[in-house]
Amino acid sequence: TFTPRVFSGIQPSGGLTLGNYLGAIKRFVSMQDEAFETIYCMVDLHAITVWQDPAALRHNTRELAAGYIAAGIDVEKSILINQSQVPEHAQLAWIFNCVARMGWMQRMTQFKDKAGKNAQNASLGLFGYPALMAADILIYHATHVPVGEDQKQHLELTRDIATKFNHDYKVDFFPITEPVIEGVATRVMSLRDGSKKMSKSDPSDASRINMTDDADTIAKKIRKAKTDPDALPSEAKGLENRPEARNLVNIYAALAELSVDQVLAEHGGAQFGTFKPALADLAVAKLAPISSEMARLMDDVTEIDRVLARGAAQAREITAPILKKTYDIIGM
Ligand code: ADP
Ligand code: NA
Repeated sequence: TFTPRVFSGIQPSGGLTLGNYLGAIKRFVSMQDEAFETIYCMVDLHAITVWQDPAALRHNTRELAAGYIAAGIDVEKSILINQSQVPEHAQLAWIFNCVARMGWMQRMTQFKDKAGKNAQNASLGLFGYPALMAADILIYHATHVPVGEDQKQHLELTRDIATKFNHDYKVDFFPITEPVIEGVATRVMSLRDGSKKMSKSDPSDASRINMTDDADTIAKKIRKAKTDPDALPSEAKGLENRPEARNLVNIYAALAELSVDQVLAEHGGAQFGTFKPALADLAVAKLAPISSEMARLMDDVTEIDRVLARGAAQAREITAPILKKTYDIIGM
């Protein structure tokens, strides 16, 4: 009964990383041409759960819009928005704050990771982040959400919130959304620590490849990436217990659109001294056209702002009626 509809978002809390590109944006682009309506978002309200410098937030939001478009999001096929410009996200989030239970939120591993040892000093918004994320998705009645592996638990919470709302008000109003977590790059790891995911909020710039890094920087970061001393195996099972090696092979496979076994059929037996330059060349070849297009788009921020204003107007045609109906169900 629900229209097949995709929603997903990325935080403008820094620059785009290779993890965001391979784990999220590449899939966003391919879903545009499948049988879905697609809505993609800069989630600035999520970004401010951790303090952001205002000028940096404004810049990063526009640059993220440029990144989406440069990577292939077509604003004739997808609605592209900045979260704070569509107020129904925050309005539904309040309702979901009243549906979600404290105990559910306390189990969220991302909160524990981000809040660290001093959780009492984390913002209330960081704790409530998953309820806002549920609202982002469900204000569109989205049926599918492409994300990286790290968002799996938040999507389960989204399903729990929809189920509880439907149950509490005896309606079949919110869909039970399907996560779409597919491919070899659902969890791109840090280049410096094979146990941590690559993230724009990692304090170490060497841990990640930024979409705006130039060719020399990309090559240097890959050359310095942590690895082990062994040669590459000839098949995937030889990468077990070698997280750093597996990460570089996964990145290669995702960029080249090959399977891990296909990559190892070609590079098995190679030392990192040979494989890393091959990976760097591939990464530069795939990322340079995107970063130069991003730079070109950033020369005209008025045009970016115009695209986002239009996206917000399109989005509100969907979100305003859903919020109105939600209020009606609740008795408001
Ligand atoms: P970040 O950790 O870089 O701030 P976000 O929280 O904004 O990323 O996540 C945006 C999208 O990118 C989500 O779908 C998330 O799962 C995906 N993503 C983020 N980091 C990675 C990664 N290292 N590997 C794969 N996907 C990722
Ligand atoms: Na994340």
